[in-house]
Amino acid sequence: MIFFDNVSKIYTPTSAALKNVTLRIMPKEFVSIVGASGAGKTTLLKMLIAEEKPSEGRIFLDGIEITGLSYRELPKVRRRIGTVFQDYKLLPQKTSFENIAFAMEAAGLADEEIKESVPQVLELVGLLDKSDSFPHELSGGEKQRVAIARALVNRPEVIMADEPTGNLDPINTWEIVKLLVKINELGTTVILATHNKEIVDDLGRRVVALENGQIVMDEEKGKYVI
Ligand SMILES: Nc1ncnc2c1ncn2[C@@H]1O[C@H](COP(=O)(O)OP(=O)(O)OP(=O)(O)O)[C@@H](O)[C@H]1O
Ligand SMILES: [Mg+2]
Repeated sequence: MIFFDNVSKIYTPTSAALKNVTLRIMPKEFVSIVGASGAGKTTLLKMLIAEEKPSEGRIFLDGIEITGLSYRELPKVRRRIGTVFQDYKLLPQKTSFENIAFAMEAAGLADEEIKESVPQVLELVGLLDKSDSFPHELSGGEKQRVAIARALVNRPEVIMADEPTGNLDPINTWEIVKLLVKINELGTTVILATHNKEIVDDLGRRVVALENGQIVMDEEKGKYVI
């Protein structure tokens, strides 16, 4: 379980990006985090991977306090959470295969494992035929699918996606959403931060709404109300 225990984040003394956020996310849930620009969605996600530290409160992943980990301990916990971003963050000089393999190399995995796992995740995202393509040879939707494959390859328990469809047209947006649903059905917790009202309404899953850094709605089968 992911547990935000009364978490606040203050970047500048005059305003809080998050205020007293308490949130539990159970294994295998699909949760959308919605809210206007500046509401605190990215801040919330960054704290889960310890890219930002809360000013107050604590964050736990299965009982491990993320906020209390040393730099040496962090990579192991970060590998349990796959990350996907709006701008893909693929390495331009590497092929799809190499981008995904790189995440496994960084995790210290052996070549045999890499050769076995990379085609598996490429197949899962429907891009086995683009294995040797470079990012500039891929469409936006394809780039995002490679990024999702990379996020999955170390078999994380959680995938967090921060506005993953922000640069995509409606058709590619749905391909990515369907893929996230499929990944969730295979047993991975999905946390999706998005502005996209249509996605959230159509998903019919849990919705947590942030407004000025506070949770103003948390509903199973929610709709985007802000
Ligand atoms: N590094 C930072 N330093 C100072 N203030 C920051 C920093 N990062 C974010 N903020 C502020 O914290 C608040 C929340 O920002 P955050 O990026 O979490 O919002 P968001 O909901 O992700 O917005 P968007 O939908 O535009 O991505 C905003 O007021 C923002 O200006
Ligand atoms: Mg954001």
